Amino acid sequence: MTNKVLVAYASKYGSTQEVAEAIAKIMREKGLDVNLQQASQVRSLEEYSAVVLGAPLYLYRWHKYAIRFLNRHEKVLKSMPAAVFAVGPSFNGDEKEWLETRDQFRKELAKFPWFKPIESEVMGGKFDPANLSFPIKYFLKDLPAADLRDWDAIAAWAAEVADKLQDR
Ligand SMILES: Cc1cc2nc3c(=O)[nH]c(=O)nc-3n(C[C@H](O)[C@H](O)[C@H](O)COP(=O)(O)O)c2cc1C
Repeated sequence: MTNKVLVAYASKYGSTQEVAEAIAKIMREKGLDVNLQQASQVRSLEEYSAVVLGAPLYLYRWHKYAIRFLNRHEKVLKSMPAAVFAVGPSFNGDEKEWLETRDQFRKELAKFPWFKPIESEVMGGKFDPANLSFPIKYFLKDLPAADLRDWDAIAAWAAEVADKLQDR
């Protein structure tokens, strides 16, 4: 067993990747040996003792590469500590949007009853209508660009996860 932590992520437009990078940086500063990798590129968890998995929500679903990651690594994840986050709220960021996103994420994780993460969090996302293509662009083109990622909250969560892993 090593003491290496994998931070695996999926990201369509890059905002979740930046969150994953920030989490990996904080965990390294806390003294952990961290590998950062796209979830879709991870073939084996053999060299790791813990995993952080993060991905955005799109149309009420956690990104398919995060779902595939859970399916592919089910056997190992049943006995390996894992923390998960979803990136989502990025439109008006009001209480309703946060509650809805938390509910979406809870429902997505409930599809994996065997999976018991030590931490689970929803983080604000980034929306830029310029990124979109037709037909979604047509429906969302009038919404303003927004970046609701809270870097202090992200750092605090990463530090908490690192502490939990180091206490184990
Ligand atoms: C077409 C579209 C659908 C989205 N659907 C959801 C959703 O169902 N729930 C949610 O919380 N966020 C939703 N979002 C917000 C994204 O999760 C957010 O923009 C996130 O930061 C994108 O991550 P990425 O840049 O890593 O791809 C949606 C965004 C777009 C553009």
